[in-house]
Amino acid sequence: MQNTDHVAEALQVVERQDAHLRAEITLWWNRYGAEYGGTDRHKILAQANISNWIGKFLFAHILQSKDSRAQAVSHITTATTPTEALDIFDRLSQDCNFWTIFSGSIGLDILPAQAWDQIQQFNKLLTNINIGAIEQSQLSGILEATVEVAVRKLRGQYPTPPTLASLLVELCLNDIASDRILDPCCGSGTIPRAALERKLSAGVAPEQAAASVFAGDRDHQAIQIATFAMTKPDLMDIPLRIFPKDAFSLTPDTKLQFRHPKTGVLFSEQAGQFDAIASNLPFVAQEGRKQYGDAIAQVASSLPSNMPGLPKKADIAAYLPFTLHSLLVEGGRLGIIITNAWLGTAWGDAFYALLNHYYDLKYVITSGAGRWFQTSKVVVNLLIMEKKDNAKNVETAIDFIVLKRPLEELSDAEAIRIAASQIQLGQTQDETMTIRSVSRDTIERFRAYGLGRTAQFVDCDWVLDLPLVPVRNFFDIRRGARRGWEKMFFPTKGHNIESGYIRPVIRSSKEITRYETAANSDAFCCSRSLDALERDGHTGALNWIRRFQNGVNEKGKPLVESLATKGMYWYEMSADALADLVMPIDFGDRLFVARLSPPDFAGQRFTCFDARNGIDVSLCHALLNSAISLFMIEGMGFGRGEGVLDLSKDRIENFMHILNPTLLNAAQAERIKTAFAPLLQRDLREVADELEESDRQHFDDTVFDVFGLDVTRERVYESLISLIGIRQAAKQ
Ligand SMILES: C[S@@+](CC[C@H](N)C(=O)[O-])C[C@H]1O[C@@H](n2cnc3c(N)ncnc32)[C@H](O)[C@@H]1O
Repeated sequence: MQNTDHVAEALQVVERQDAHLRAEITLWWNRYGAEYGGTDRHKILAQANISNWIGKFLFAHILQSKDSRAQAVSHITTATTPTEALDIFDRLSQDCNFWTIFSGSIGLDILPAQAWDQIQQFNKLLTNINIGAIEQSQLSGILEATVEVAVRKLRGQYPTPPTLASLLVELCLNDIASDRILDPCCGSGTIPRAALERKLSAGVAPEQAAASVFAGDRDHQAIQIATFAMTKPDLMDIPLRIFPKDAFSLTPDTKLQFRHPKTGVLFSEQAGQFDAIASNLPFVAQEGRKQYGDAIAQVASSLPSNMPGLPKKADIAAYLPFTLHSLLVEGGRLGIIITNAWLGTAWGDAFYALLNHYYDLKYVITSGAGRWFQTSKVVVNLLIMEKKDNAKNVETAIDFIVLKRPLEELSDAEAIRIAASQIQLGQTQDETMTIRSVSRDTIERFRAYGLGRTAQFVDCDWVLDLPLVPVRNFFDIRRGARRGWEKMFFPTKGHNIESGYIRPVIRSSKEITRYETAANSDAFCCSRSLDALERDGHTGALNWIRRFQNGVNEKGKPLVESLATKGMYWYEMSADALADLVMPIDFGDRLFVARLSPPDFAGQRFTCFDARNGIDVSLCHALLNSAISLFMIEGMGFGRGEGVLDLSKDRIENFMHILNPTLLNAAQAERIKTAFAPLLQRDLREVADELEESDRQHFDDTVFDVFGLDVTRERVYESLISLIGIRQAAKQ
């Protein structure tokens, strides 16, 4: 890989001279760039190509021991050009399969002499050590190591941990021998490899095992690595079912082509239906959506018209279960790894409803012991569902499972089978996991409170007996001021703007140390024309505006245009809306609803509560900070990789409830406010510490007592601590 820079430069030079290559690289990057976790397309292509060459030589040498035709590789020397070498590999793939490894790829022939020389030294080394004669077990090791390096170097973002892949396969396969299983987005092939190994370890004949494990990916490079991952020395003369295809294009009628390694004969198989589909679905950020436009539109149009469709913000992965539906037999299992954002977002609501239409969701599994993907910040869930058998239509409960042990502790096959068995039977036998089985009707009741998913990982049935009302009955709920260019609207100290144009604002939860707080950052709020400022000699404000007048935003658009708003100057921000209460949209280790006293101006990182006339704000403030409300806040959102709770203003507006203050008489309201008063006099604490404070316990006891609640304070605390613990574990 030390040749990466040279190869990248060579690619750049040829790209400048060759429109065809230019177009190829442009489209390749547009399509697959997001998968590689880097920004320099030439460097990444260079790495991919070097790895591709190494793969070709290594594989051809290994193949030699099985197939003499592969000896052609030994005839490649420094005297051979890369283009000639590619011809030799092409012939090899015609003769003995492994097209996925031997075929050409974008710019593969563009190698400076030095890089080609080193690859030839590697080729010579492989000839000298006669790698084909190495013992099979060691060969497996070499193949594995190659995959590992390729994945680390090239596809570092979201490789599936092998343990998770094995667990997924274990939970999806019913008849180990005969089930046909597919991973349509196989990446480096971890999941199909686990499926193949599971079949072989159960004594299934290699021919039958290979014929029943299918792996597809639209990225050719992923396919090459997956071929390495799935190839075993004793499987080399058996055709593997690996194919380069877009998952959105697959139907049971799709013809998949393979080549038989022994005879070199091409054969095709109809995709047909699978007994199981298991996949770690692509993580495509919003910017990557464009290229999926048609596919998404097609899936969207196939969804039932009487149900809410998937909103624009939905991940690409959210569409795949519906496109894969026709590829699954009735009663067949679909197991997916998907971002946990579905637990606490509006798209998650629609996704859940649609899943229930097509599938019988059986298990929702999350980690309670650190992130499963160590190389990226995404937190994922494993969802296992069965395609609905419309004739039967029995809906079972959904099991919400928290794995309490880190994946490394489940690394041997037996431990994985024991874990999977506990999940299958809904019986916990040790400390490995907690399982909460919840009926669909019960989940439906929780949905009204926005607690139908995240909260279900812990005991929360007590919520259903509480006297709750929507918060929106008492407050108008809105997002804090969002005006587009923070640097201008929220100047840092030393800005020299005249005080008349500065308003206090609360900008970040870090500024909040107590339940009651005041806005004390600066906001630039100027509603006067430049001429008026000039006339009055207000040079502070003028200079401030001029600093940004020629500026551009992240997309290169002039600020004067990007900030243009009807009826306002481009530099104007209104600070008229004053909030009584604020809640961060990204809670950390503290949970609270802060009161702005007096009501004040808040920035975009807050959800703002504006009290309607006649509302007892002090009482509502206290109730919103009771342990019950804190649990509901935690349960409505989802935890991000940094341990932050993601909770949008919309969810609060749509779902947030509090204990009904209108049920209380004046004396009861007073008791609660009095019990809350000491909390206002001290700093906020992280949740675990907060719940240890005696004034907090007394306050919650008072709330429980006044409302005559059946649930104990300890039980609510336990639920809250467990739920926040799952979120915080993701930081590890
Ligand atoms: C999260 S990765 C899978 C990781 C894989 N299990 C592993 O261990 O490497 C998702 C894969 O989906 C592939 N992909 C994205 N969109 C696809 C599509 N429309 N059809 C097929 N594959 C797709 C990407 O190329 C990527 O390899």
